Amino acid sequence: MNKKQNYRKEENAQSIQWFPGHMTRTRRRIEKCLPLVDAVAEVIDARIPLSSRNPVLGSIIKGKPRVVLLNKCDMADPDKTSRWIQWFRGKGIPAVAVDCKSGRGLNGFIPAVQEVLKDKIEIWRSKGMVGRVIRVMIVGVPNVGKSSLINRLCKGGKADVADRPGVTRQNRWFTIGKGFELLDTPGVLWPKFEDKLVGEKLAFTGAVKDDVVDTEHLASRLLEFLSEEYPKELKARYKLDEIDLSEYQGYELLEMIGKKRGMLVSGGEINTERASIAVLDEFRGAVIGRITLETPREAE
Ligand code: G4P
Repeated sequence: MNKKQNYRKEENAQSIQWFPGHMTRTRRRIEKCLPLVDAVAEVIDARIPLSSRNPVLGSIIKGKPRVVLLNKCDMADPDKTSRWIQWFRGKGIPAVAVDCKSGRGLNGFIPAVQEVLKDKIEIWRSKGMVGRVIRVMIVGVPNVGKSSLINRLCKGGKADVADRPGVTRQNRWFTIGKGFELLDTPGVLWPKFEDKLVGEKLAFTGAVKDDVVDTEHLASRLLEFLSEEYPKELKARYKLDEIDLSEYQGYELLEMIGKKRGMLVSGGEINTERASIAVLDEFRGAVIGRITLETPREAE
């Protein structure tokens, strides 16, 4: 493929694969656990709040109350994260920004669940069911931080081994707060992989393995996005102050970055492969800046 062709073309984006049998199994597992929980906590990646969601979660969990955790908020654009929280709240879904690496924001988790269960808790109270335990299950697509979240919340918590419905070797419950229990294994869902742009955004964040994507293509696409949405950060990181970003395509920017960094192969050609790995690594490590790739406007 000619690397200099227009990377803005959507059909150039790459996709990822899930198999139907795999999807059916994970869906069934979640459906089986649903009657045991009062609410579902959907974990998403705050940098790609749309692409890191499962397209049919609503139909899987039916009317079960839901909260959203915008994880990895340490790497996301804080303004956009606030806008996403408002957007979810506008849809009646309490949303909280969290960072499971440091634990920041996690104290907002239980209050968010209590908020979405407000009416139910009131009914339980009126029926004299004081102290009724609230149970929650975590769900989300791969790599959003479900395990990190469970590890953080369950650290120091107590595993419930009592002989009662819902407690099996597969389903262990952790007490994570007074009257509050968490299922210790998350429900793993698939992303909207049939949408190539979704696959590409997952790949930007590293949720798709680099050995199944063309890294130069991917880095070029990312550079085009950054040049439009985060020009200040892009210029600052790669010392591109002297150029008008809008005049260059992604691959040309990649070449410039490789040249500036002295990434050359024998014969003096620019090693764009090395440059692409550097750009992707620096984006994934939030070294370029705190960047969010999707806004609520795109969700409407
Ligand atoms: P999953 O269960 O949903 O598949 O996700 P998991 O918890 O395994 O997390 C995926 C990667 O994201 C891990 O990095 C994890 O450390 C990182 N991560 C999770 N939450 C946060 C967060 O809030 N902020 C940041 N910056 N990173 C987060 P990894 O590179 O796969 O492993 P490692 O770095 O932990 O060794």
